[in-house]
Amino acid sequence: MNLLAIESSCDETAVAVVRDGRTVLSDVIASQAEMHADYGGVVPEIASRKHVEVIAALCDEALSRAALCRRDMDAVAVTYAPGLIGALLVGVSFAKSAAYALGVPLIPVHHVRGHIAANYITYPDLEPPCVCLCISGGNTLIVDVRGYTDMAVLGGTRDDAAGECFDKVARVLGIGYPGGAPLDRLAQSGDSGRYPLPRAQIHGAPLDMSFSGLKTAALNLIHNARQKGEALDVPDLAASFSAAVSDTLVPRVMAASAQMGYGKVAVAGGVAANSRIRADLQLACARAGAKLYLPALSLCGDNGAMIGCQGYYEWQSGNHADADLNAYATRDLGVG
Ligand code: KG4
Repeated sequence: MNLLAIESSCDETAVAVVRDGRTVLSDVIASQAEMHADYGGVVPEIASRKHVEVIAALCDEALSRAALCRRDMDAVAVTYAPGLIGALLVGVSFAKSAAYALGVPLIPVHHVRGHIAANYITYPDLEPPCVCLCISGGNTLIVDVRGYTDMAVLGGTRDDAAGECFDKVARVLGIGYPGGAPLDRLAQSGDSGRYPLPRAQIHGAPLDMSFSGLKTAALNLIHNARQKGEALDVPDLAASFSAAVSDTLVPRVMAASAQMGYGKVAVAGGVAANSRIRADLQLACARAGAKLYLPALSLCGDNGAMIGCQGYYEWQSGNHADADLNAYATRDLGVG
Protein backbone atom coordinates (compact mmCIF):
# COMPACT_ATOMS: atom_id res chain seq x y z
CA MET A 1 0.00 0.00 0.00
CA ASN A 2 1.51 3.35 -1.09
CA LEU A 3 0.70 6.31 1.13
CA LEU A 4 1.26 9.97 0.28
CA ALA A 5 1.91 11.61 3.67
CA ILE A 6 1.71 15.33 4.41
CA GLU A 7 2.93 17.23 7.49
CA SER A 8 2.52 21.00 8.00
CA SER A 9 1.79 21.47 11.71
CA CYS A 10 4.52 24.03 12.44
CA ASP A 11 7.44 25.41 10.43
CA GLU A 12 8.34 22.40 8.31
CA THR A 13 6.45 21.43 5.18
CA ALA A 14 7.11 17.72 4.71
CA VAL A 15 5.86 15.15 2.23
CA ALA A 16 6.76 11.46 2.07
CA VAL A 17 5.79 8.37 0.15
CA VAL A 18 5.66 5.36 2.47
CA ARG A 19 4.94 1.74 1.47
CA ASP A 20 3.16 -0.63 3.88
CA GLY A 21 3.92 1.49 6.93
CA ARG A 22 7.65 1.03 7.33
CA THR A 23 9.29 1.36 3.93
CA VAL A 24 10.09 5.00 3.22
CA LEU A 25 10.32 5.52 -0.55
CA SER A 26 10.90 9.28 -0.28
CA ASP A 27 10.86 11.91 2.45
CA VAL A 28 11.27 15.59 1.51
CA ILE A 29 11.26 18.49 3.95
CA ALA A 30 11.22 22.25 3.37
CA SER A 31 12.24 23.93 6.62
CA GLN A 32 11.24 27.52 7.29
CA ALA A 33 13.57 27.85 10.31
CA GLU A 34 15.69 30.55 8.64
CA MET A 35 12.62 32.71 7.96
CA HIS A 36 11.51 32.59 11.58
CA ALA A 37 15.02 33.00 13.04
CA ASP A 38 14.86 36.81 12.73
CA TYR A 39 11.83 36.81 15.03
CA GLY A 40 13.28 34.33 17.55
CA GLY A 41 10.30 32.00 17.14
CA VAL A 42 7.70 30.76 14.67
CA VAL A 43 5.44 33.49 13.24
CA PRO A 44 2.17 31.62 12.51
CA GLU A 45 1.09 33.82 9.58
CA ILE A 46 4.45 33.43 7.83
CA ALA A 47 4.38 29.68 8.48
CA SER A 48 0.96 29.27 6.79
CA ARG A 49 1.98 31.33 3.76
CA LYS A 50 5.20 29.41 3.24
CA HIS A 51 3.36 26.07 3.46
CA VAL A 52 0.99 27.26 0.70
CA GLU A 53 3.94 28.29 -1.49
CA VAL A 54 5.81 24.97 -1.37
CA ILE A 55 3.36 22.15 -0.68
CA ALA A 56 2.40 21.28 -4.29
CA ALA A 57 5.99 21.28 -5.54
CA LEU A 58 7.07 19.22 -2.54
CA CYS A 59 4.44 16.59 -3.37
CA ASP A 60 5.73 16.35 -6.94
CA GLU A 61 9.28 16.06 -5.60
CA ALA A 62 8.31 13.27 -3.16
CA LEU A 63 6.57 11.32 -5.95
CA SER A 64 9.46 11.79 -8.33
CA ARG A 65 12.04 10.65 -5.74
CA ALA A 66 9.88 7.58 -5.04
CA ALA A 67 9.75 6.97 -8.83
CA LEU A 68 5.96 6.78 -8.62
CA CYS A 69 3.10 8.86 -9.98
CA ARG A 70 -0.05 10.25 -8.38
CA ARG A 71 -2.14 7.31 -9.60
CA ASP A 72 0.14 4.89 -7.69
CA MET A 73 -1.02 6.37 -4.37
CA ASP A 74 -3.53 4.22 -2.46
CA ALA A 75 -4.32 6.78 0.27
CA VAL A 76 -3.37 10.26 1.51
CA ALA A 77 -2.40 10.72 5.18
CA VAL A 78 -2.20 14.14 6.79
CA THR A 79 -1.37 15.68 10.17
CA TYR A 80 -4.61 17.28 11.36
CA ALA A 81 -3.70 18.08 15.01
CA PRO A 82 -2.16 19.42 17.20
CA GLY A 83 -0.23 22.44 15.90
CA LEU A 84 -0.61 25.95 14.51
CA ILE A 85 -4.12 26.08 13.15
CA GLY A 86 -3.35 28.03 9.96
CA ALA A 87 -0.36 25.82 9.20
CA LEU A 88 -2.34 22.62 9.78
CA LEU A 89 -5.16 23.86 7.56
CA VAL A 90 -2.81 24.15 4.58
CA GLY A 91 -1.85 20.48 4.80
CA VAL A 92 -5.39 19.32 5.58
CA SER A 93 -6.93 21.28 2.66
CA PHE A 94 -4.27 20.05 0.25
CA ALA A 95 -4.64 16.43 1.41
CA LYS A 96 -8.43 16.59 1.09
CA SER A 97 -8.17 17.82 -2.50
CA ALA A 98 -5.53 15.21 -3.36
CA ALA A 99 -7.56 12.34 -1.87
CA TYR A 100 -10.71 13.53 -3.65
CA ALA A 101 -8.97 13.97 -6.99
CA LEU A 102 -7.31 10.55 -6.76
CA GLY A 103 -10.41 8.84 -5.38
CA VAL A 104 -8.48 7.32 -2.46
CA PRO A 105 -9.06 7.35 1.34
CA LEU A 106 -8.04 10.35 3.44
CA ILE A 107 -6.36 9.38 6.72
CA PRO A 108 -6.09 11.83 9.63
CA VAL A 109 -2.94 11.50 11.76
CA HIS A 110 -2.30 12.98 15.22
CA HIS A 111 1.10 14.70 15.10
CA VAL A 112 2.40 13.14 18.34
CA ARG A 113 1.28 9.67 17.22
CA GLY A 114 3.36 10.36 14.11
CA HIS A 115 6.43 11.20 16.21
CA ILE A 116 6.00 7.91 18.09
CA ALA A 117 5.81 6.04 14.75
CA ALA A 118 9.28 7.36 13.80
CA ASN A 119 10.50 4.54 16.05
CA TYR A 120 8.81 1.88 13.89
CA ILE A 121 10.77 3.13 10.89
CA THR A 122 14.08 3.08 12.77
CA TYR A 123 13.38 -0.32 14.36
CA PRO A 124 11.55 -2.59 11.90
CA ASP A 125 11.00 -5.21 14.63
CA LEU A 126 9.50 -2.81 17.21
CA GLU A 127 5.85 -3.38 18.01
CA PRO A 128 3.66 -1.97 20.77
CA PRO A 129 3.23 -2.08 23.69
CA CYS A 130 5.91 0.31 24.91
CA VAL A 131 6.18 3.48 26.96
CA CYS A 132 7.16 6.52 24.88
CA LEU A 133 8.65 9.81 26.02
CA CYS A 134 7.41 12.40 23.50
CA ILE A 135 9.51 15.55 23.68
CA SER A 136 9.20 18.27 21.07
CA GLY A 137 8.87 22.01 20.70
CA GLY A 138 5.19 21.96 21.61
CA ASN A 139 4.63 18.71 23.55
CA THR A 140 6.13 16.89 26.51
CA LEU A 141 4.26 13.68 27.27
CA ILE A 142 4.80 10.19 28.64
CA VAL A 143 2.57 7.90 26.62
CA ASP A 144 1.36 4.36 27.20
CA VAL A 145 1.47 2.97 23.65
CA ARG A 146 -0.81 -0.04 24.12
CA GLY A 147 -1.26 -0.56 20.40
CA TYR A 148 -0.53 1.26 17.15
CA THR A 149 -3.70 3.31 17.55
CA ASP A 150 -4.49 2.69 21.21
CA MET A 151 -2.68 5.16 23.47
CA ALA A 152 -3.11 6.95 26.77
CA VAL A 153 -1.20 9.82 28.35
CA LEU A 154 0.45 8.77 31.63
CA GLY A 155 2.03 12.14 32.43
CA GLY A 156 2.96 15.43 30.86
CA THR A 157 4.16 18.94 31.39
CA ARG A 158 1.91 21.27 33.33
CA ASP A 159 3.36 24.33 31.61
CA ASP A 160 6.15 24.69 29.03
CA ALA A 161 7.29 21.94 26.69
CA ALA A 162 10.92 20.83 26.99
CA GLY A 163 11.82 22.08 23.48
CA GLU A 164 10.23 25.45 24.16
CA CYS A 165 12.58 25.88 27.16
CA PHE A 166 15.65 24.91 25.15
CA ASP A 167 14.64 27.48 22.50
CA LYS A 168 13.97 30.26 25.04
CA VAL A 169 17.23 29.80 26.96
CA ALA A 170 19.19 29.57 23.68
CA ARG A 171 17.53 32.74 22.41
CA VAL A 172 18.51 34.73 25.51
CA LEU A 173 22.04 33.35 25.22
CA GLY A 174 22.04 34.56 21.61
CA ILE A 175 22.94 31.19 20.11
CA GLY A 176 20.25 31.08 17.45
CA TYR A 177 16.85 29.67 16.63
CA PRO A 178 15.76 26.94 16.97
CA GLY A 179 18.19 26.72 19.85
CA GLY A 180 17.95 23.11 21.07
CA ALA A 181 20.59 21.67 18.76
CA PRO A 182 23.22 24.48 19.17
CA LEU A 183 22.68 24.48 22.94
CA ASP A 184 23.20 20.72 22.93
CA ARG A 185 26.47 21.11 20.99
CA LEU A 186 27.76 23.71 23.48
CA ALA A 187 26.71 21.55 26.44
CA GLN A 188 28.96 18.73 25.27
CA SER A 189 32.07 20.67 26.33
CA GLY A 190 30.52 22.10 29.51
CA ASP A 191 30.44 21.15 33.19
CA SER A 192 26.88 20.15 34.10
CA GLY A 193 27.54 20.63 37.82
CA ARG A 194 28.63 24.27 37.50
CA TYR A 195 25.29 26.10 37.83
CA PRO A 196 22.66 24.82 40.27
CA LEU A 197 19.23 24.78 38.59
CA PRO A 198 15.93 23.45 39.97
CA ARG A 199 14.20 20.15 39.19
CA ALA A 200 10.50 20.58 39.92
CA GLN A 201 8.28 17.92 41.51
CA ILE A 202 4.50 18.01 41.33
CA HIS A 203 2.93 16.87 44.57
CA GLY A 204 0.52 13.99 44.01
CA ALA A 205 1.35 13.65 40.29
CA PRO A 206 4.69 11.81 40.09
CA LEU A 207 4.65 11.43 36.28
CA ASP A 208 3.80 15.06 35.57
CA MET A 209 6.47 17.70 34.98
CA SER A 210 6.98 21.44 35.14
CA PHE A 211 9.63 23.34 33.20
CA SER A 212 8.62 26.97 33.70
CA GLY A 213 10.54 27.33 37.01
CA LEU A 214 13.66 25.85 35.43
CA LYS A 215 13.35 28.17 32.43
CA THR A 216 12.89 31.23 34.66
CA ALA A 217 15.81 30.21 36.89
CA ALA A 218 18.10 29.87 33.86
CA LEU A 219 16.94 33.20 32.41
CA ASN A 220 17.38 34.98 35.78
CA LEU A 221 20.87 33.56 36.09
CA ILE A 222 21.79 34.94 32.64
CA HIS A 223 20.20 38.38 33.26
CA ASN A 224 21.75 38.72 36.75
CA ALA A 225 25.22 37.88 35.44
CA ARG A 226 24.82 40.44 32.63
CA GLN A 227 23.57 43.14 35.01
CA LYS A 228 26.50 42.59 37.35
CA GLY A 229 28.95 42.40 34.44
CA GLU A 230 29.99 38.90 35.53
CA ALA A 231 31.33 36.43 32.99
CA LEU A 232 29.00 33.57 32.23
CA ASP A 233 30.41 30.27 31.06
CA VAL A 234 27.99 29.44 28.25
CA PRO A 235 29.00 25.76 27.73
CA ASP A 236 28.74 25.18 31.51
CA LEU A 237 25.31 26.81 31.62
CA ALA A 238 24.17 24.81 28.57
CA ALA A 239 25.38 21.61 30.24
CA SER A 240 23.76 22.48 33.60
CA PHE A 241 20.47 23.31 31.86
CA SER A 242 20.48 20.15 29.73
CA ALA A 243 21.17 18.05 32.84
CA ALA A 244 18.24 19.65 34.68
CA VAL A 245 15.88 18.91 31.76
CA SER A 246 17.14 15.34 31.52
CA ASP A 247 16.87 14.83 35.31
CA THR A 248 13.23 15.93 35.05
CA LEU A 249 12.38 13.62 32.14
CA VAL A 250 14.37 10.43 32.63
CA PRO A 251 13.28 9.30 36.14
CA ARG A 252 9.63 9.86 35.18
CA VAL A 253 9.72 7.83 32.00
CA MET A 254 11.56 5.07 33.90
CA ALA A 255 8.90 5.14 36.64
CA ALA A 256 6.20 4.89 33.96
CA SER A 257 8.06 1.99 32.35
CA ALA A 258 8.28 0.16 35.70
CA GLN A 259 4.58 0.83 36.25
CA MET A 260 3.55 -0.61 32.85
CA GLY A 261 6.06 -3.48 32.87
CA TYR A 262 6.54 -3.69 29.08
CA GLY A 263 10.35 -3.54 29.30
CA LYS A 264 10.41 -1.24 26.23
CA VAL A 265 11.07 2.50 26.33
CA ALA A 266 10.87 4.63 23.17
CA VAL A 267 11.60 8.33 22.67
CA ALA A 268 10.09 10.69 20.09
CA GLY A 269 10.14 14.31 18.92
CA GLY A 270 12.77 16.95 18.14
CA VAL A 271 14.24 16.97 21.67
CA ALA A 272 14.84 13.20 21.35
CA ALA A 273 17.97 14.27 19.43
CA ASN A 274 19.46 15.68 22.65
CA SER A 275 22.73 13.95 23.48
CA ARG A 276 22.44 14.28 27.27
CA ILE A 277 18.90 12.86 27.33
CA ARG A 278 19.91 10.00 25.02
CA ALA A 279 22.95 9.14 27.18
CA ASP A 280 20.99 9.32 30.46
CA LEU A 281 18.23 7.13 29.02
CA GLN A 282 20.76 4.58 27.82
CA LEU A 283 22.18 4.33 31.34
CA ALA A 284 18.78 4.23 33.05
CA CYS A 285 17.40 1.57 30.70
CA ALA A 286 20.51 -0.58 31.06
CA ARG A 287 20.14 -0.40 34.86
CA ALA A 288 16.42 -1.23 34.71
CA GLY A 289 16.87 -4.01 32.15
CA ALA A 290 14.56 -2.23 29.69
CA LYS A 291 15.15 -2.05 25.93
CA LEU A 292 15.61 1.52 24.67
CA TYR A 293 14.44 2.70 21.25
CA LEU A 294 15.96 5.96 20.02
CA PRO A 295 14.72 7.19 16.63
CA ALA A 296 17.30 8.00 13.94
CA LEU A 297 18.34 11.66 14.30
CA SER A 298 16.86 12.40 10.86
CA LEU A 299 13.45 11.22 12.11
CA CYS A 300 13.39 13.09 15.45
CA GLY A 301 12.19 16.43 14.04
CA ASP A 302 9.01 16.91 12.02
CA ASN A 303 8.93 14.81 8.85
CA GLY A 304 6.46 13.22 6.46
CA ALA A 305 7.75 9.64 6.82
CA MET A 306 6.48 9.35 10.40
CA ILE A 307 3.03 10.54 9.26
CA GLY A 308 3.03 7.94 6.47
CA CYS A 309 4.02 5.22 8.93
CA GLN A 310 1.36 6.09 11.50
CA GLY A 311 -1.14 6.75 8.69
CA TYR A 312 -0.76 3.13 7.59
CA TYR A 313 -1.72 1.86 11.07
CA GLU A 314 -4.59 4.36 11.32
CA TRP A 315 -5.83 3.08 7.93
CA GLN A 316 -5.56 -0.53 9.14
CA SER A 317 -7.68 0.32 12.17
CA GLY A 318 -10.34 1.89 9.94
CA ASN A 319 -9.57 5.49 10.83
CA HIS A 320 -10.59 7.31 7.64
CA ALA A 321 -11.78 10.90 7.31
CA ASP A 322 -14.37 12.52 5.09
CA ALA A 323 -14.10 15.78 3.17
CA ASP A 324 -15.28 17.62 6.29
CA LEU A 325 -12.04 16.81 8.18
CA ASN A 326 -11.00 19.82 10.24
CA ALA A 327 -7.68 20.85 11.81
CA TYR A 328 -7.33 21.26 15.59
CA ALA A 329 -4.74 23.28 17.50
CA THR A 330 -5.07 20.85 20.42
CA ARG A 331 -6.31 17.28 20.44
CA ASP A 332 -6.14 14.42 22.92
CA LEU A 333 -3.67 11.76 21.81
CA GLY A 334 -6.07 9.03 22.88
CA VAL A 335 -8.74 10.28 20.46
CA GLY A 336 -6.40 9.80 17.50
O1 KG4 B 1 9.56 17.72 16.88
P1 KG4 B 1 9.99 19.08 16.45
O2 KG4 B 1 10.80 19.19 15.18
O3 KG4 B 1 8.79 20.05 16.29
C1 KG4 B 1 7.64 19.94 17.06
O4 KG4 B 1 6.82 19.05 16.76
O5 KG4 B 1 7.57 20.73 18.04
O6 KG4 B 1 10.83 19.67 17.67
C2 KG4 B 1 11.48 20.89 17.59
C3 KG4 B 1 12.16 21.14 18.92
C4 KG4 B 1 12.74 22.54 19.02
O7 KG4 B 1 12.34 23.10 20.24
C5 KG4 B 1 14.24 22.29 18.96
O8 KG4 B 1 15.01 23.28 19.63
C6 KG4 B 1 14.33 20.97 19.67
O9 KG4 B 1 13.25 20.23 19.13
N1 KG4 B 1 15.60 20.25 19.43
C7 KG4 B 1 16.48 19.94 20.42
C8 KG4 B 1 17.58 19.31 19.80
N2 KG4 B 1 17.33 19.24 18.45
C9 KG4 B 1 16.11 19.83 18.26
N3 KG4 B 1 16.42 20.17 21.74
C10 KG4 B 1 17.45 19.75 22.49
N4 KG4 B 1 18.55 19.14 21.97
C11 KG4 B 1 18.65 18.89 20.64
N5 KG4 B 1 19.73 18.28 20.14
